[in-house]
Amino acid sequence: MTGAIRRPAWLERARFYEIYPQSFADANGDGIGDLPGIIRHLDYIEDLGCNALWINPCYDSPFKDAGYDVRDYTRVAERYGTNDDLVALFDAAHRRGMHVLLDLVPGHTSEEHAWFRAGARADPADRHLSGAGEDLSERYIWTDCWISGGDGLPFVGGEEERDGTYILNFFKCQPALNYGFAHPKHAWQKRALGPEALATCDAMLDVMRFWLSRGADGFRVDMADSLVKHDDGGKPYTIRTWQYMFSKIRPEFPEAAFVSEWGRPGESMQAGFDMDFYLDWRWDGWPNGYNILLRNTDTPLVREGDASYFNADSETSIKGFLDQYLMQLRDAERFGGYFDLITGNHDTLRVGQRLTARELKVAYGMLLTMPGCPFLYYGDEICMPYRPLPTKEGGYVRTGSRTPMQWDDTPNRGFSAAPAGRLYLPVGEDGGSPDVAGEKRDADSLYHWVRAVLAVRAGRRALDAGGRFDVIAAPEHGRLFAYERGAKGRSDGAAAYGDSGVEVGDAGAGAGGPADAGDRVIVAMNPGRGEESFALPQWARRSAAGAGPGVLLSVGDVCIRGDAVALGPQSFAVIG
Ligand code: NOJ
Repeated sequence: MTGAIRRPAWLERARFYEIYPQSFADANGDGIGDLPGIIRHLDYIEDLGCNALWINPCYDSPFKDAGYDVRDYTRVAERYGTNDDLVALFDAAHRRGMHVLLDLVPGHTSEEHAWFRAGARADPADRHLSGAGEDLSERYIWTDCWISGGDGLPFVGGEEERDGTYILNFFKCQPALNYGFAHPKHAWQKRALGPEALATCDAMLDVMRFWLSRGADGFRVDMADSLVKHDDGGKPYTIRTWQYMFSKIRPEFPEAAFVSEWGRPGESMQAGFDMDFYLDWRWDGWPNGYNILLRNTDTPLVREGDASYFNADSETSIKGFLDQYLMQLRDAERFGGYFDLITGNHDTLRVGQRLTARELKVAYGMLLTMPGCPFLYYGDEICMPYRPLPTKEGGYVRTGSRTPMQWDDTPNRGFSAAPAGRLYLPVGEDGGSPDVAGEKRDADSLYHWVRAVLAVRAGRRALDAGGRFDVIAAPEHGRLFAYERGAKGRSDGAAAYGDSGVEVGDAGAGAGGPADAGDRVIVAMNPGRGEESFALPQWARRSAAGAGPGVLLSVGDVCIRGDAVALGPQSFAVIG
């Protein structure tokens, strides 16, 4: 830790909606989503119950990796509008009390970025931007000879004038920015936190400043653990690199939030992030905790063989999830940070064709009431299906999760006025495939369920991101999962988070303020086909007169009988 981190207060109550900008709403009729389209639908997002956005990269790019190949960090891609449109989005969101995270891609740029073009020149004297003096020879990782290998790292040779090969961070189009090596072995490998690496950090800090000073509320940070090469286990040098950057940016923008694509809060929190995602990982058929919930299958498009906890037929217990989750949650809590669960994202396969809407009600009931800030991927609230499609912009198998939002049954499902052939990706056919208008008409729809769960979350301090989480029932054999959430109490501030040196801003504004500091609720579910039951904790038992907590929200048969709760097949309840 580099000293006390004051967490942005607004995160305690944030409920995020992730937007893949290409596919959300096309306001100018060119077939691709844009920023004015997002602005037009802020009311929809707010009414759904989300109060924060994460927008995938919307910067100038050749789009060989859907914008994760940034050509200019400080210019909005023409397809989405202008920098002024993005500022207008910040303003429109802020007027509604919403916050906006942009996507920061610090580990690599496009091979077309001006820094790379300059650094790739043969003559060192030419390796600067026109009119600017800074030598960009070391902004990326170049070996010192055209025939050199990358010391075990992926590299490209034979493409540029410079007598060297360069290291990649992801696709071939994404050269790695130079944050140095943990243990340099060759002259071309610069030291982590050395002058060349710090110059890259300073350039990335300027990118952050550019958008934060224009109204962005923070960043989701792409591949945040990838910066220092050949880092040791536990990523000590990458952690120190982030600590350096946070030591500069936090004092300037104390309300800015940073969520890492890292997947190991024990590391990312030390690095200084506010939040980390529980990423969906499945290696050689071995699921991580998150994967066990919704995606525990080698054949994600078919129901057969799916061992996911939320599949009614799987017989999987919640234990495998908890065994991994709890340790990581406690890691995040030690630092006063958050460990975030997602319904899906632009890299995961949508689950709508494998799991039923009823299964998803139980699943989202849990995901939206757990600790950390929930992230809802656009379209997941209406059970938008995955569509097998040829790759687009480096999406490959991910492409089918990135199709246009289905708003209604007008042409192009209300996404765009362009001719169908000009759409970014084909829209789901009408009839059978859901849309927002239809889901709104159906009182029993997944959309209304998501809205109801988010409303309960918004109304109860116990369900705040940093609220307490205690397991009540999670048998190894069986399908039951019940937990208690409790407000931390804002008055005790840093003390509530132990001795990690973390302070929490005053999050008391709005409904459910400090007066609710003692608030607590029970969340319980049974995704299976049998019956389950558990005993209520003492505080939740009904008095002789019948007074006590009641069911705030439920799906399926939920019955409080005496001191116990009985959960029928495929049921979920919030009790409080
Ligand atoms: C992770 C992003 O989520 C993914 O979409 C992208 O392709 C890679 N990082 C590379 O930036």
